[in-house]
Amino acid sequence: QQPFTVSGKSFTAVAINTAAKAGEWIKLKLGSHATLAQKSTSHDLVTEVDKGSETMIRNLIRTHFPQHAILGEEGVAPGADASARALKAMQDEEYLWIVDPIDGTTNFVHGFPFFSVSIALAHRGEVIVGVVYDPSRDELFVAEKGKGVYVKGKRMNVSAEAKLSDALVATGFPADSGYALPLNLQGIQAVAPRVRNIRVAGSAALHMAYVAVGRLSGFWEIGLNSWDVAAGALLVSEAGGLITDTAGQPYTLAVRHVLASNGKIHEELRETLAGAQATGF
Ligand code: IPD
Ligand code: CA
Ligand code: CA
Ligand code: CA
Repeated sequence: QQPFTVSGKSFTAVAINTAAKAGEWIKLKLGSHATLAQKSTSHDLVTEVDKGSETMIRNLIRTHFPQHAILGEEGVAPGADASARALKAMQDEEYLWIVDPIDGTTNFVHGFPFFSVSIALAHRGEVIVGVVYDPSRDELFVAEKGKGVYVKGKRMNVSAEAKLSDALVATGFPADSGYALPLNLQGIQAVAPRVRNIRVAGSAALHMAYVAVGRLSGFWEIGLNSWDVAAGALLVSEAGGLITDTAGQPYTLAVRHVLASNGKIHEELRETLAGAQATGF
């Protein structure tokens, strides 16, 4: 059996088509999402479009690969414990699709055009396909394990900046404002004076895709979930970058405190966060 197909069906082709279809639908719904609910706090929203996108993605994947397991954000109760439990129960599946139906819901709700669909496929816990789709710019970022990163048919690589002082980096303000937000603010305070600038644009998956294609040199965030990170992690590593936790340990599906970079500024960024006790460890 070939690693990227089953019965002649390409995992990557299904990931791409599914992300593109869901993304197009999300874009059609911009500005007209009728119901809006808070999941945990006013920082943590969900709309019927998040749910509809996830249903569409699940159905498309199931049509092609009925035996595969699917972990999607909107199928899990809110909160770090529930998401860790859900991942644990599924991470050893032979094939596990990890889905964020809209990464950047807050942006979607406000009409700020920076949100994405993130779809990853893990084989026995290792991500082998990662796709992030940005419907606003119609950009599809595709990674296959061992085969690099492609956008519109073009092979992409991480940036060349070797010093933090030349780097544009990004982070996020996590929905969990009790624990993760103060840590991230501490990190920003330490990192800001040492980098060219910081962006906080509101989609972890898209930030990581931007690291992969060299538009950002680094990204970190405390308190993410597997569906925010899995596809982006493969994009970063396949583009020649480095993806670890904020303590510098290798990426696994269970990593929640994420550090992604072009590789060259990784250590400087990690040290800066550690110095500010902002790694979450
Ligand atoms: C959120 C986004 C945001 C990040 C949050 C995530 P969601 O995902 O990735 O950029 O700061 O931590 O929860 O809820 O919009 O899918
Ligand atoms: Ca969410
Ligand atoms: Ca997300
Ligand atoms: Ca989401």
